[in-house]
Amino acid sequence: MLHVSDLHLIPSQRRKIEWVRSLAELEPDLVVDTGDNLAHVDSLAPLLHALEPLLAVPGAFVMGSNDYYAPVPKNPARYLLPDARVPFASEARLLPAGELATAMRDAGWVDLTNRRDALRVGGVRLDLIGVDDPHLDRDVFPAPEPAGSATDEPVLRVGVTHAPYRRVLDSMHDDGADLVLAGHTHGGQLCVPGLGALVTNCDIDRRRAKGLHGWPGARPDAPGGDASTWLHVSAGAGTSPYAQVRFACRPEATLLTLTAR
Ligand SMILES: [Fe+2]
Repeated sequence: MLHVSDLHLIPSQRRKIEWVRSLAELEPDLVVDTGDNLAHVDSLAPLLHALEPLLAVPGAFVMGSNDYYAPVPKNPARYLLPDARVPFASEARLLPAGELATAMRDAGWVDLTNRRDALRVGGVRLDLIGVDDPHLDRDVFPAPEPAGSATDEPVLRVGVTHAPYRRVLDSMHDDGADLVLAGHTHGGQLCVPGLGALVTNCDIDRRRAKGLHGWPGARPDAPGGDASTWLHVSAGAGTSPYAQVRFACRPEATLLTLTAR
């Protein structure tokens, strides 16, 4: 499972475009894109070129604030504030989120914007649940699946959200998600070596700003039988074009290898 997040692509980023294209060489069975793909009003065509080889693979996606609204110039130090949001609707320019979603759906990727869906990958069923960006308060948790509506049991339940807000992670855990994928934090973006992220840009703790953890508990080191959900937060592969700085926090996409229970 290839987890791609927070590309924040601007059309001139040719190396990033080639790098994203090269990710198909990892031969993932499934691609999950947790949003913030765009960072410029003219980024849609270059983004679709970058994603082209991955769009040939089964996939799922949700949108982030930077798919809906272009970034606005702001003091980079704002990133270190507890709530770095700017008033999106008043200052920002609209990005072609609708066209992006249409292109992804047309390629066969599953749109998880406040909805459930299922995918067959390698002959097994994955149940998927997603929300629209909680950072913009656009998340509406999907209604429960009607009892007995499925003919077979999924081997895995996957939750997908752009921003890992606690309310969303709690709801996905309560809904039975085995694994939740999120982005948005940029891994803290500006980190202190040995200490890690200073901010997460949402209400999750700094320790879980990136990487594989458990929700609500510490899953990777837990003994067998732990009922916690696996949580993977991608540090993402970009920055805001107005705060193009990462420190001690490399950009990333992640190949997650899932093994049978
Ligand atoms: Fe982002």
